Amino acid sequence: MTGKHGGRAIGILTSGGDSPGMNAAIRAVVLAAREQGFKTLGIRRGYKGFCAGDWFLITPESVEGIARSGGTVLGSARMEEFKEKDVRARAIAGARTAGIEGLVVIGGDGSFAGARDVSEEGLPCIGIPGTIDNDIVCSEYTIGYDTALNTVVKLADTIADTAASHDRCVVLEIMGNMAGDLTLYGGLACGAAAVVLLEETCFGQEEAWSEEKGKTVPRFLPNPGEVTRINDSIARRICAGKRAGQNSFLVLVAEGVTGKKDGFGSTRYPGGAEAMAKAIEAATAETFGSAGRVETRAQILGYIQRGGDPTARDRVLAARMGDYAVRLLSQGRRNEVVILRGSEVTSIEIDEALRLQREKRAGVNLSDYLNTEDRALARRLSICDLENDAAAEGGV
Ligand code: F6P
Repeated sequence: MTGKHGGRAIGILTSGGDSPGMNAAIRAVVLAAREQGFKTLGIRRGYKGFCAGDWFLITPESVEGIARSGGTVLGSARMEEFKEKDVRARAIAGARTAGIEGLVVIGGDGSFAGARDVSEEGLPCIGIPGTIDNDIVCSEYTIGYDTALNTVVKLADTIADTAASHDRCVVLEIMGNMAGDLTLYGGLACGAAAVVLLEETCFGQEEAWSEEKGKTVPRFLPNPGEVTRINDSIARRICAGKRAGQNSFLVLVAEGVTGKKDGFGSTRYPGGAEAMAKAIEAATAETFGSAGRVETRAQILGYIQRGGDPTARDRVLAARMGDYAVRLLSQGRRNEVVILRGSEVTSIEIDEALRLQREKRAGVNLSDYLNTEDRALARRLSICDLENDAAAEGGV
């Protein structure tokens, strides 16, 4: 097949939230494609560019140096309309005309659903997990997670300095969508007084119709009394710490606990990190009197967690995964996602990857998805355990 750019081509796009290391993956794909006799067409802004035919020839020379930088040189976007079959059909026809014989999609589970559909409709696709959340169940690692985790730790350490100078507690809201990896491991690394994880405070989700969004979205299963339980638990821990002479505290809370994440306009922790901070301050005022209370501030780390130069780990993994994806395509494989299992880069069917994601969403025990040994370690290191914080009752 010969397209307008001449010769056989692989298309590549980045989709969903960007993550550091995506550029390293793009570079690897372009270089591996040359080795396999393909040109690479870079598609701008994810599936939006795929539908608009917005692509350009990426030469191996042009990707030199990009592995060092964060973000994605291709741009990224989310596109709801890509769920419509006729929208995809037009895009696939356009891609074929341009000589695109296979597509590499770097992104999260939403992006993989699009890749699965495109594969099934005739254009082979291979997914690569790229998200700071580390929330692709079938892969032990996603590109961007290591960089984001290091950013979280660096920023939490920075905030801990000023919290210590002013004898304050800071409630830090950490990204991660529905996954607590950044919060748990960030908390472990920076010695947080408490981490509040969705996996430990939520008892699963169900798919439900949202009038607000006009579609079916995951909804948290109701858990009345949870806010009180979180407040009590953290307050007990902080009061115990203060009695023992600790003057400043960091509480890391996963955005899934505080954010508007269920598409129903409701939050699991109404008022988010701000409300949690007020509750902690009020509880310590009750115990130690107004003058002795622990002044508490909320800080949402936000998008700063998604940018920055990728760590070596992210660059190396991106190189391995990008190269693997091209080799799969050149072997005639399709509809697979590249994953890390142990230290091995391998792949599984996208359908299977999505089935595992759905299972997690529906699961009644989300906590199974975080490493139990590391959660136990967090408990041993005195990080607040909301399920079983009896130890905190007796003081630190
Ligand atoms: O998936 C990455 C992520 O940063 C999540 O941690 C966060 O919930 C979401 O993207 C934010 O998305 P947006 O860029 O659409 O605000």
